[in-house]
Amino acid sequence: MRTIPVTPAGGAYEVRVGRGLLGSSQDLPELPGAEKAFLVADANVAGLYGEAAARALAGVGLSTVPLTVPPGEASKSLDTAQVLYQQLSTQECHRDDVVVALGGGVVGDLAGFVAATYMRGVPFIQLPTSLLAQVDASIGGKVGVNLPRGKNLVGSFHQPRRVITDVDALATLSEREFRSGLAEVAKVGFAIDPSILQTIETALGDLVQRDADLLEDVVARCAAAKAGIVSEDERDHGRRAFLNYGHTLGHALEGMDAYRGRSHGEAVAVGMVFAARLAADLGIGDPALVSRHLRALASLGLPHGAEALDPEQVLEVMRMDKKYRQGLRFVLLEDVGRPRLVEDVPEAAVARALEAMHG
Ligand code: GLY
Repeated sequence: MRTIPVTPAGGAYEVRVGRGLLGSSQDLPELPGAEKAFLVADANVAGLYGEAAARALAGVGLSTVPLTVPPGEASKSLDTAQVLYQQLSTQECHRDDVVVALGGGVVGDLAGFVAATYMRGVPFIQLPTSLLAQVDASIGGKVGVNLPRGKNLVGSFHQPRRVITDVDALATLSEREFRSGLAEVAKVGFAIDPSILQTIETALGDLVQRDADLLEDVVARCAAAKAGIVSEDERDHGRRAFLNYGHTLGHALEGMDAYRGRSHGEAVAVGMVFAARLAADLGIGDPALVSRHLRALASLGLPHGAEALDPEQVLEVMRMDKKYRQGLRFVLLEDVGRPRLVEDVPEAAVARALEAMHG
């Protein structure tokens, strides 16, 4: 088991990464005054791990109130949040009681948002079960819901009291979901910690076979990379932007697919190749970096090209992005592990990089 400290101004906590943690009380934090745990999960994850989590919570004297939401991105909405507020109030959630998010990024963001806002904030624990949530979404306190016009447009920062990451839960992910999570692992490898890219390149077989020891190591290293960044830039005014590598085009593609096409990880994989092409076009990154992206992402079974995209349509969606600031800005790599926020990127360069994504 690895313990990773996270020390943002909004409250320090630990990420614990290991095997068999979901059913054990040992890693739960102290929660003075708490009597109930409101366990938010989708029906699939509740069926798989709800009982184990409730057993662990009972071990520290908390009675579990299960709150089940429908699986899928559509649950990350104000409507579902409203249903949860209603349940918290009718089932007498008090200020010291805890909301526990058991599941992937959708449940973590939704439950965290509800915890951030119910009674102006109640304690919150993350039990991430998807690879994406384990390496990224569960750490750093970004919580929120989507609006019809875009993802994560309503939200807050609300740090969890602890993140308990059981890599054994990765065994039950579908192949597609697992590989989508690997896109976020690759993102950390390309943009933040080159040793993770080396692991992808040298231990690929074990990684895609989900070797549990290797996963524990990789997830812990990704968590540590993220913990370092959010500890120093909780509110996303500086280095935290580097975690959005590949996400500008990624988010645009997800939106253009109406969230029913490419998964988040698949869209981010395409977005990283696009960013590498854009960096090469602008003379910021070596063109050899494009081939390194293509090799790594193909080996992880992720897409690295796109259909012919209409640059005007893509640019219009990008202008709606939260990251847009009076001009197109992208996280681009000078080299592996050397990200840079590049402002005022010419639209013509974006169009050329999009063109290169086709075929
Ligand atoms: N997933 C990006 C961030 O947490 O800032």
